[in-house]
Amino acid sequence: MNVDDLRLRLSQAGQEHLLQFWDELDEAQQAELYAELHAMDFEELNVFFRKATEGFNLSSQQEKVDARMEPVPRGVLGSATRDQDQLQAWESEGLFQISQSKVAVLLLAGGQGTRLGVAYPKGMYDVGLPSHKTLFQIQAERILKLQQLAEERCGRPCTIPWYIMTSGRTMEPTQEFFARHAHFGLRRENVIFFQQGMLPAMSFDGKIILEDKNKVSMAPDGNGGLYRALAAQRLVEDMERRGVRSVHVYCVDNILVKVADPRFIGFCTQKGADCGAKVVEKTNPTEPVGVVCRVDGVFQVVEYSEISLATAQRRGPDGRLLFSAGNIANHFFTVPFLRDVVNVHEPQLRHHVAQKKVPCVDSQGRVVKPEKPNGIKMEKFVFDIFQFAKKFVVYEVLREDEFSPLKNADSQNGKDNPTTARHALMSLHHCWVLNAGGHFVDENGSRLPAIPRAAASGQSEAVTAEVSDNLKDANDVPIQCEISPLVSYGGEGLESHVAGREFHAPLIIDERGVHELVKNGL
Ligand code: UTP
Repeated sequence: MNVDDLRLRLSQAGQEHLLQFWDELDEAQQAELYAELHAMDFEELNVFFRKATEGFNLSSQQEKVDARMEPVPRGVLGSATRDQDQLQAWESEGLFQISQSKVAVLLLAGGQGTRLGVAYPKGMYDVGLPSHKTLFQIQAERILKLQQLAEERCGRPCTIPWYIMTSGRTMEPTQEFFARHAHFGLRRENVIFFQQGMLPAMSFDGKIILEDKNKVSMAPDGNGGLYRALAAQRLVEDMERRGVRSVHVYCVDNILVKVADPRFIGFCTQKGADCGAKVVEKTNPTEPVGVVCRVDGVFQVVEYSEISLATAQRRGPDGRLLFSAGNIANHFFTVPFLRDVVNVHEPQLRHHVAQKKVPCVDSQGRVVKPEKPNGIKMEKFVFDIFQFAKKFVVYEVLREDEFSPLKNADSQNGKDNPTTARHALMSLHHCWVLNAGGHFVDENGSRLPAIPRAAASGQSEAVTAEVSDNLKDANDVPIQCEISPLVSYGGEGLESHVAGREFHAPLIIDERGVHELVKNGL
């Protein structure tokens, strides 16, 4: 350990307070702190802080963004509901790309999951489905099924490599979980784990925060830390080596995510896009979701907090919100585009600033849990790179088919919690059973009523049960119905299991067959 050298570097960067408690630490603690600080580039961190906080001040000048925003033009928009005549063609193209092993999926799973508040990675969470499958297992099985569908369609074996981004805290438990479950049936070499970077929390005047006398307060550098991590671990080269041409990037917490959705892949490919965003319609002006739009002619996501209520409330001639393309962090990138981002553009990206209550030690060395924000975390966002696209497209899907994120614990909030995630999945699967000609009956044998619903799946008469339509919060209880992704990826192939049959819930359809849990006494 060369402590003098470290002290010098720290004082040159104005961060000498980090060694304030050095003499009070035992040898092991000193070694720990030394290792942590030795690995940091303080000059770079100071530059990040300066640029991020400059950007933060600029972005508080709201009216400027409002005046410069334009909605997504129809010409670059594909829609699962408005372009139903195209869905077959997009799906065929997507399945063809997948069958050639040209498509990879990339999971963003490096977040801390603070709001959910569990001590393990969010992907390991069981939302309480009848099968008790975790989010990781559901996604793995969708990949397996999609490989099988592509193989059947195109008559050749294929692989969808799965890149999984973790962070310092989630890497080990994630890898261990996958190993324990034999990678859920996927080949080990096609599941590629990598780790994103971490950054220290900083006070409002740019001082790195100590969370303990021998420990810096560190957090992952945002889901846009993806690009730096791809560069550091030479993963674009890995994709090229495998012959991958495009990548579907998504978040771990969306229980309905259609990994490598062939329609989305096919749409983006046919449009010749290098970058695409899947969106859901924002219908409530005050919903705190970012919208995809153009600012000064350049595509980006504008956060709800960056625009005025008046702008959020504007409506187009069709009555929809003008800025309705709700971002769900679900993206398509070609590999050449990723290569350019990683090699050329990434360093230009500025971190976003989030003000946080950061637990810290005070000048006396006491651990403090602040009541109001005392510092910032710096994060890049995965969508920050839209601006570099040569051809950007947007694909709109139905929220109830594809988006139900797990953010909060059940106890905290009626929205985006384990109950809403579980209900969203069961409601969708109930709908698949009805669309395939099955019916549910109550304990007296009477059929439960179904009402029409917008058809997103390409079927002209899609239906859903009354109780499951538009589940908004945890108080609406859907029929318990779960279909294994190994049986159906997106509602296809269920007729032979359910057509003309009546079921009592709870119903599970999996690779072993159709199970009515109550009837079978399970
Ligand atoms: P969120 O921003 O919702 O964060 O992440 P989170 O970690 O899941 O939850 P909170 O805010 O701490 O409660 C959206 C997606 O981006 C990933 C998450 O794992 C999730 O899939 N993410 C977030 C990363 O991969 N890295 C990060 O640094 C942050």
